[in-house]
Parts: sequence; C-alpha cells; structure tokens
Amino acid sequence: MLKSKHLIGLENFPTSDLNKIIDTSFKFKEILESPERKAILLKGKTIVNMFFENSTRTKISFTLAEKRLGADSINFSSSTSSVKKGETLKDTIQNIDAMKIDGAVIRHGHPGSALKLTEYIDGAVINAGDGSHEHPTQAILDMVTLKEKFGKIKNLKVGIIGDILNSRVARSDIFALKKLGAEIVVCGPSTLLPSNAKQLGVNITHNINEVLNWCDVVIGLRIQLERMHLGRIPSKREYHSEFGLTYERISKLKKDIVIMHPGPMNRGVEIDSKIADSENAVILDQVLNGVASRMSILYLLLADKSEKL
Ligand code: CP
Repeated sequence: MLKSKHLIGLENFPTSDLNKIIDTSFKFKEILESPERKAILLKGKTIVNMFFENSTRTKISFTLAEKRLGADSINFSSSTSSVKKGETLKDTIQNIDAMKIDGAVIRHGHPGSALKLTEYIDGAVINAGDGSHEHPTQAILDMVTLKEKFGKIKNLKVGIIGDILNSRVARSDIFALKKLGAEIVVCGPSTLLPSNAKQLGVNITHNINEVLNWCDVVIGLRIQLERMHLGRIPSKREYHSEFGLTYERISKLKKDIVIMHPGPMNRGVEIDSKIADSENAVILDQVLNGVASRMSILYLLLADKSEKL
C-alpha cells in the first residue's frame, strides 16, 4: 500500500507515502474517537516493539496502536533482556526474527540502528528514534496535528526552538515540513545549531522573539539534560531566560500562536507550565494523534491487500 517497505527516516521517504500516511491517520482518528475504538485490520500479524532506550509516549502509543488493530504485540525491553548478559544487537534481532514476526519497531541510541535492523529481519522495520538521526513517527504525528489545526501545511510558518543539533525530532520535522511546503526558522544557542542548517533548507536566528513574532506555530524541543555536562548551555536558568517559551514572551505577542512540544517536557526550562497548559498548546493532541498516526503507519506497511479500511 506504500512504495516503501520500511519507515526508517523521512529524509528520503517518498512524499506520496508521507501524504498517504497523514491522510489515513485522520480515518484512524475517527475510529479512535468512536465508541468501538478498534479496527481489526492486522489480525494474525505479530509485531515486536524493541526499546533499547527509555520511552513513555512512543512505546505506549505503538503498543496501543497494535492492539487497536488486532495485531499480536510483544514488548522487548533491553534492560530486562539478555542484552544485559552481553548479547549483541545482531544476535538479539536474529533470535526474535526466528520466532516469525511480521514487523519490528525499534528505538535505539545509535544512529543507523533501524536501518541495520532491515538486514537481519524479513518484516517491516519502523524507526521509533535512532540516536540523533531521525524520529519519523514523531514528525508524522506532528504533521497530522498541524494539518488538523490549520487545514494545510503548505506555506505554514514554523519555528523550532532549542537543541536542533542533537534532536532527531527536529531533523525529521524539518524533512517532513520541507516536503510539505512549510517555511521553517530554527532558533537556539549557536552551540546547539547544526553547521549545515542552510543545507537543510531552514533559516536560523538566535533571537527567540523574532521567531515568535513571525511564526504560526512553534515547536519547543526538550533540552537534553543528560548532555548538560558537555557545557553547550551555561545553565538551565540562563537557557530559560534566553530561549524559553515563557509566559512573559508569549503573552506579549500580537497574535495567537500554536504551541507544540514532542515531550518529555522540562517545565520551567524550555517551556513554562502556564504555556504548556494553555489553550494554544496542542501537546496532548499530539499524543492522541500519535496513536492514530502509528495505526496508519502499521496498517499501510503491514496489512494484507484484502484488508480495506
Ligand atoms: N516524543 C517521544 O518520543 O517521547 P518518548 O521518549 O516518551 O517516547
């Protein structure tokens, strides 16, 4: 149903496949909002969710999407597996594949791990975040949320604030937004901006007020507190003051802007609680759209042709 067999990243993903996933997500959203909440389209399919890194939203969202589609869903967590006894990724995956699975969802700290997985298993592979490379399903749920809110993505003005350099969400969002015709400005301290921003086709500023006054929607990124020791930002307090989505800043704007954040949020660092919980924030809509989007991705990659939505 898609040209692609896997969903590894959006950089080279066909725009037609991206649009098909987004459009189909709205059908699944209707199903999720109906009393039934299920569409048994993957009966008999077995999907393993392999999480080598922590996750709340993505892991629960995939598990729920699989259950809503009637698939057999297995959760693998590296912290309680034989990985702890020294088993390699290749051996782990080949053993799981030997148990006859149809699809695998993987989150791993190493960029390229999802692509590597395609060499070891026959089924479809979905990247649930590979290091600082890509997080395509997050970007797809973001596109669904934007399309739901604005009706279109073409010519939308999107500001992305924060650690663009290390963010797989920012990279996947940029690839998706560019394919769909949005304008993008990224903003953050120079230590957290990539040197190839121009190649990515985005504009750069270090002035958050400039972006906020320009954009229709702002995506705040998580400051990766685990990287604080690298000294790329002087302190959480200084980051909040220079680049935070603060109540003081947002309340002074002459127009309403939509606030997005992929989660998990550091309240009081990259975003104030008053903004995260405000009417203009669609952060929890993103979470529900995550289930619909992942149902769409799983259905389009794994369903038999005879299973019509
Ligand atoms: N947005 C996101 O990927 O959240 P989790 O790390 O909780 O899955």
